Parts: sequence; structure tokens; C-alpha cells
Amino acid sequence: MDNPDNSYSQAFKQIAKTANSSLPFKRVLTSIAKSTAKALKAAGCSIMLLNAQKEYLDIVAAHGLSDLYLRKGALNAHRSLPDILEGKVVAIFDVSQDKRAQYPEAAEMERISSILGAPLLQKTEVVGEVRIYTQEPRHFSQGDKDFLAAVANMLAITLEKTELYQLLEAEHRKKITKQRNLTEAPELPASSLRPSSFGHPSEEEFARLLDFYRIEWLYEPRSFPLAWQNSKVAEMFTPDFYLPELDLYIELTTIKQSLITEKNRKLRRLKQLHPEINIKLLNKNDYLRLLAKYGYGPLGETKVQGIDRVLFSHTQIERQTKALAERISHDYVGHQLVLVGILKGVICFMADLMQHISLPLTLDFMAISYYGSNAEPAVKITKDLDTTIAGLDVLMVEDIVDTGMTLNYVLDHLRSHKPASLHVCTLLDKRVRRLVDVSLDYIGFEIPDEFVVGYGLDYHGEYRNLPFIGALNPELVQEGRGK
Ligand code: IMP
Ligand code: MG
Repeated sequence: MDNPDNSYSQAFKQIAKTANSSLPFKRVLTSIAKSTAKALKAAGCSIMLLNAQKEYLDIVAAHGLSDLYLRKGALNAHRSLPDILEGKVVAIFDVSQDKRAQYPEAAEMERISSILGAPLLQKTEVVGEVRIYTQEPRHFSQGDKDFLAAVANMLAITLEKTELYQLLEAEHRKKITKQRNLTEAPELPASSLRPSSFGHPSEEEFARLLDFYRIEWLYEPRSFPLAWQNSKVAEMFTPDFYLPELDLYIELTTIKQSLITEKNRKLRRLKQLHPEINIKLLNKNDYLRLLAKYGYGPLGETKVQGIDRVLFSHTQIERQTKALAERISHDYVGHQLVLVGILKGVICFMADLMQHISLPLTLDFMAISYYGSNAEPAVKITKDLDTTIAGLDVLMVEDIVDTGMTLNYVLDHLRSHKPASLHVCTLLDKRVRRLVDVSLDYIGFEIPDEFVVGYGLDYHGEYRNLPFIGALNPELVQEGRGK
């Protein structure tokens, strides 16, 4: 062992003390990074956290690394050190030769030769990584690995403690403000990926707009070398944003012509060096136009008229629809499946769902209309099935189940045609409003008691074409629902 046990145990004592101190969380992490680098006689140390989707590793604290290196960006977790995701300690002897290193240019600039990484484990779940970097090539000893693994454990505990504290604090805030007590929409991109400050107010505004639409983003996730001098990188370019869902880098700019010219030059150079990269230079009008192109809000207005907030982005819907389709494909193997939908709300969901079901299937639609009063609502069929479903496996596909009256009525009708089986898949379940007990076999999202539109769902026939699902402003809904 090249490092006496005693110096590691001294260092660990110090780290444990820091972890248990009352310093602000960020300071605790930075201080632990420093002690760890020192104990391992390494040039630098970084502490990274995985985002909620377990796709990116983002540096949350570091010691001994240049700003430029830190800004090289979030690491793709799966490409980076796959063994880390499996909970193993990983050593890289020569970064320049190892395929697992994602930014070899940046590492070269920093003169990093070897890396040792240990996973941050909470029970058996990997939540992040601690890494040390050495300038001289180094074969790490078992003692080095054991020490870093012990630091990783201490960090995981510290993190859990802080998260617990934040959770309690959030609960407390919720109680005070007595906000909506119903199901919360899924969380936004992990806060670990949020920068503490932006370079420019327009960047912050753009980030807020992306948040509104629940589009995932990373701020300055990567630096690209543009020019070299004596085989050292002399110029780098760091785009402002990366939107993983669109696989698009974005550089924001003001209308100042001198800046645009310079940025255009860098962009041209970047495209020459990396033709595979998708990047756009946008000013404010451009980015509103870009969002409009992807179906996010009309031009000039940052948000869609009447929509209070976006509940599910197109990507979230897409992911959930795919997951449902996979379950259905698995459950119905070997069966003759018929998907039945009720027009018109279900068209988007039906179209996307069926494309991800990997079984032979047929489709049929019904249409219904509502009559009667609010006190005594009633449903009638205005278009029946075109095909016979007797003896077949029917999956009723619904956009939303609210009181359950429609579904109950339609299921009774379908049952009278004697299908071999009858199950239900709904994208949205507004369970709190249920009046009739219907059993749902596949559910996309449970939602609170709010009127939602988009992705096929309408209000007085409108909003169906929005690619996301949003909550309509209650004031707009007052005069009655769009049934
Ligand atoms: P139920 O019979 O009350 O379950 O209502 C089901 C039907 O009401 C759905 O198929 C929709 O057409 C409509 N509906 C219920 N809630 C909403 C909503 O929040 N937005 C749009 N349509 C809704
Ligand atoms: Mg419907």
C-alpha cells in the first residue's frame, strides 16, 4: 500500500466531522472533495449526482479542477463508467486511451492521466459518484479504492440526510400554503442540474419557459474545443443549453450585431469539427418561433391562452405510452387483440399507443353523445362498432376516465357483444371524481380534479392539437365542461 492506513484513517475522521457539521451543504461537499483529493494525493476531486432519469451525472462540488474542466458538462451516465451504475469502484489508468472517458480533450487540457471513481450508494441504488483525478499515470492500490469507497458511503449518507431535511421543509411549506392537496405532477428535471446562476437574464427566462412546458434542459452541459495551439486546446465553445429530448444545443444571443457575428463564426467552426451536432443560435424571437414549431405556444405569446400550467410534456406522455404498450404487448401475446376507442378525445393516445404494441391487432371506434341534465346525465351511442367483437380480446382505450359513467355505459354495451375478454387502458385517471366503480387495467397518469386539455382532449372542441396536456384556467371553464 503506498499510503499508510493511518493517514487514510486521519483523513476519514476529518471527512466524517465535516459531513456532520452545520456548514451549508455545498460547502460540506466542497470541503470533502478537498480532503479526499489531498488524502489520495490526487490533483482533483469531483462529486457528481445522477439526475432523476438516471441519464446524466452532474458535478455538484469539486476541488482542484479548472472552471473550464468543470464546465465541460454533464456526463452521460451510461456511457461514462457503466460499472459505477452497477455499484463498483472503477479505475482508469490512461484517460487518453480509455473509451469510457467522455471528454478526452478536456482531460488533456487539464493534464489528467488517471481516474478513480466510486459510486454513491443509497441502499442498493446508485445516486452519484465521487471521482479523483491524478496528473501522473497511477495504478490505484486496494487501499486507495477502499478509502474512496468509504468517502462515497459517507457522502451518500450526508446526501440522504440533506434530502430528508429538504423533504421535511417542503412538507412544512405545503402545509403552510395549503396548496392543492392532490396528486402532484411528476417532478421537473433534478435540481442538481440547475445552475445557481445564469450568465444572462435571457437564459434564465428561456429556462423558465422550458420549465413551463416541462421540457428537460441542461445548462452549459459541454464545452467543445475549437482551436489548438502546440497540441493544446486554445479555444473552446460552450453552448448555453442542451435539450436532450430534441437532441439540440442552443446558444442564445442578443440582437447586438458584433456578438452575433462572433458567435456565428464559432458555430460554423463547431459544425465543421462536429457535423453530427445539432445546434441553433437563437435570439428571443427565434426561440419563441422554435417552441411554436414544436407545438409549444403561439408566436409572440410565451404561453398558450387559457393554459395555467403544463401537466405532462409530450416526452412524458410518449414515455408513459410506450411503457403501457410494452405491458400490453407482453400481456396479450398469442391473443387476437381489438382496440376500441371512443371518438374524438382518444385519437392522439390511440394513434401513439397502437404503434408501440408489437402484436397483430385491429381497431374500431364508437361515438357517443351526452344528453339529459347535470343532475341526471345520460349517454347514447351515435356510432356503433363496424366489426364484430364476439370471441375476441377487446381492450377499451380511453383518453380520460372522470366520473366513470361513460366508460361504465360503453363497457356494458361491449359486454353484450360477448368478447372473449374485456379490459381497459386509460391515459388519464381523474380518480377523485369517480362516481361509478369501473376497474382500470392500464393507467397512464392519475390526475387531480382539474379540467385538462391537449393531446386530443378538448374544451368546446378546441385545444385538441396541443402536443402536451395542460390544466385549463378554471375561470375559462366556469360556464360548463366541454362534453
Ligand atoms: P366520465 O363519463 O365522467 O368518466 O367522463 C369521460 C369523458 O368526459 C371523457 O371521455 C372526456 O370526453 C370528458 N372529460 C372528462 N374530464 C375531462 C377533462 O378534464 N378534459 C377534457 N375532457 C374531459
Ligand atoms: Mg372521451
